[in-house]
This record gives sequence, structure tokens and C-alpha cells, in this order.
Amino acid sequence: MFLVGSLVVLCGLLAQSTAQLAGLPLPLGQGLPLPLGPALPSNPTDLAGNFANALSGGLLSGGLLGILENIPLLDVIKSGGGSSNGLVGGLLGKLTSSVPLLNNILDIKITDPRLLELGLVQSPDGHRLYATIPLSLKLQVNMPVLGSFLQLAVKLNITAEIVAVKDNQGRIHLVLGDCTHSPGSLQITLLNGMGVTPVQSSLDSLTGILTKVLPELIQSKVCPLINGILSGLDVTLVHNVAELLIHGIQFVIKV
Ligand SMILES: *[C@@H]1O[C@H](CO)[C@@H](O)[C@H](O)[C@H]1NC(C)=O
Repeated sequence: MFLVGSLVVLCGLLAQSTAQLAGLPLPLGQGLPLPLGPALPSNPTDLAGNFANALSGGLLSGGLLGILENIPLLDVIKSGGGSSNGLVGGLLGKLTSSVPLLNNILDIKITDPRLLELGLVQSPDGHRLYATIPLSLKLQVNMPVLGSFLQLAVKLNITAEIVAVKDNQGRIHLVLGDCTHSPGSLQITLLNGMGVTPVQSSLDSLTGILTKVLPELIQSKVCPLINGILSGLDVTLVHNVAELLIHGIQFVIKV
């Protein structure tokens, strides 16, 4: 009786575990969708994408972010718009009303410089490329008259024209044509919400000064990097891009 009882229990257990097995999830991997070929970061035929990536990479490895962070913004502003280095000479000369404001700025720190996603556009005739280099950074302005640190977010697009040229040995190179900030692409936003009402006019003069000085200052630091980057790019990549530019063949897909 005892034996039969145990057998019944045993059979019951077996039946249960068989049922459990059937309901068990499949061994790892088998239930997952099959990988659809190797995961390529980018299509190898995507020349424009590769070129944009190579430019971005070159800017970053060329020290772009450090260069942005170390722009002597306060010195340039206080020296009246940088007449000493000829960058934006005389721009602030007429802004005598800003002098009291300038004297109140103890420090301006540039932090959090970033390169956002670089964009490429090809000219309608196909012979030129325009690389849009979107930059962003933050400014910490120490102005005791405003009662605290001001935090401003700055965005600016630099546009670099890239053309293909043949040297006198018949070799093709990519070189920088025009390089300038895109008109109207400077955005300055106040980040920290302090009691803005009493200082709106100071804030306006500050952004007025920054609007005059920053675009040319940033452009003067970024543009000189680009020729060096272009001459250091992968030879095949340069060759492929340059051939298409010389023949005016569109390869940048418009979005
Ligand atoms: C920079 O250019 C991109 C693409 O052309 C655009 O979407 C963006 O709004 C521009 N940024 C500024 C600050 O104008």
C-alpha cells in the first residue's frame, strides 16, 4: 500500500515536470530573431556619410573641443573686441554704453563644448560641398551686479565650403573654400532662471556684445583646423569624393 502510494506520487511528479519542461522557455538564443547579416555602423557605399563622419572625427581629434573651451572670450571682450589680434577689431568701439556693463563682468567661463551632428550639402552644380558644423557650448558669466552667475547656452553653425583642386602634378586634393558662421545661426539662451526683470537691460547688452563677438571668434578658431583635417583624411575617401565633385556628380542625398 505504501509502495503503491509512493509510485503514484512519483508518477505525479514526473508528469508535472514533463509538463513544466514543455512550458519552459526555449534555450537561450533559439527564441531570438536571427541576426540579419552583420551589424554595419554605416553603409559602406554611403560616401557622404563616411565623409561627414571623417570630418567630425578629424575635428574632434584635432582638438576642437579644447580649442573652444580655451577661447579667451573675456580678454577679447574687455580689449574692445580683440583689436589686438585683429579678429573683430573695432566692433565694440562704438558700444560706449556697454563699458559699465563690461566692467561688471568678472569672469566668463566656457564649458561643455560640443560638436553636434555635422551636415553636408552639395551645391546644385555638384562641384562644391558645404559642411555645416553645429557647435554648442555654455557660458558661465560671473557678474556680481546681477547677483549671481549667469548661465547661457550658445549654439552656432559654422559652414565650411569644400572644393576639389588639382595640383600641378595632377593630384587631386580637397581644400577649404569659404568658411564662415551661418548668418543668423547664433542662438543664445539664458539657462538659469534668476529674477530676470530688474536686469533685463543688462542681459540684453550682454547678449548684444556676445552676438557681435562670438561668431567671428569661434569661426577664427574652427576654420583653420579644417584644411589640416582635409589633408589628413583617408586617401581613398578623398579621391572618391574629389572625383565626384570634379565631375559635378551629386552624391549627397538631400533630406
Ligand atoms: C544649424 O544647422 C542645422 C542644419 O542645417 C539646423 O537644423 C540648426 O537649426 C542650425 N542651428 C542653428 C543654431 O542655427
